[in-house]
Amino acid sequence: MDLRITCIPGDGIGPEIVAEAKKVLDAVAGRFGHAMHYTDILMGGASIDVHGVPLTKEAVDTAKSADAVLMGSIGGDTTTSPWYRLEPNLRPEAGLLAIRKELNLFANLRPAVLYDELTGACPLKEEISAKGFDMMIMRELTGGLYFGEKKTIEEDGVRKAVDTLVYDENEIRRIAVKGFDIAMKRRKKVTSVDKANVLASSRLWRSVVEEVAEQYPEVKLEHMLVDNCAMQLVKDPAQFDVILTENMFGDILSDEASMVTGSIGMLASASLNDTKFGLYEPSHGSAPDIAGKDIANPIATVLSAAMMLRYSFDLDREADAVENAVKEVLREGYRTVDIMSEGCTQVGCRQMGDLLAERITL
Ligand code: IPM
Ligand code: MG
Repeated sequence: MDLRITCIPGDGIGPEIVAEAKKVLDAVAGRFGHAMHYTDILMGGASIDVHGVPLTKEAVDTAKSADAVLMGSIGGDTTTSPWYRLEPNLRPEAGLLAIRKELNLFANLRPAVLYDELTGACPLKEEISAKGFDMMIMRELTGGLYFGEKKTIEEDGVRKAVDTLVYDENEIRRIAVKGFDIAMKRRKKVTSVDKANVLASSRLWRSVVEEVAEQYPEVKLEHMLVDNCAMQLVKDPAQFDVILTENMFGDILSDEASMVTGSIGMLASASLNDTKFGLYEPSHGSAPDIAGKDIANPIATVLSAAMMLRYSFDLDREADAVENAVKEVLREGYRTVDIMSEGCTQVGCRQMGDLLAERITL
């Protein structure tokens, strides 16, 4: 199969981790007889430095012409980087929001899994972590507060800022359908998270999710308020299968869930539209403080590439081969510094990529 992939190395550790993911994808291509065609585009700070804007129209067109996009990370240190002295709509993050909207990537899948080999990294009490957990956070990505009308005004000498949380029923329905579809392939449970005791948008969310649930009689649906969900994630994470939620709640809860695994350097994500097209990126940020030191953990990006093989290309065996390589390397005791523990062998970013690529088997 010919796979056309647009790569966004981005900022900070982005270029290093994308290079390792490509190494692993090339090993997959070699073993399974595929051809990878990569085209790089600039986004975030890297694009600001060259073009003065975080995303150009040409870059968007290149991404649109590919079958999938593989991204590293964007952004810099918000207190010291000159990128953060620019207007908000010219900063690195604006590029990410723009590409999500341009490519209509409304469904963001963020798995949070406790790996058997890494239970020691989980910050929860042992009686909780011993149960393990494996959840998929399904975050709506192109609506809500992020994209509603915003303004900053002055009224009678008082500064005032407004963000609008807006959803229509179609936006809610399409993400709910994705959530239930994914639940059907997993443990058939959806927890829809909202703030229906306060917000009108949440009450609409709840009723549309209930309508969609009627089409999926095998899936158990429960509703949970977002503040309670934040508590339950640390109290009993094993209860969750698919968490379905709006943009802002999903942003916050997915960071919390990743912290609960204790190994954010391991967590992948996929952002999908209503075709097979998707943008795949690690759940972590650009970590400018460790950029260029060859110590970043490339596994989250490698696992994002596995999600790409599975969701955009329907190459399940190839995706399994990548995920198995990760498990094998962990079983053999290799660790990057972020997940290092006593008795293991510490390796750098490049060596981790080599080890993973060597373990791709048919
Ligand atoms: C994320 C990030 C982004 C978001 C930022 C960088 C705009 O936190 O992908 O979760 O809030 O969506
Ligand atoms: Mg976030």
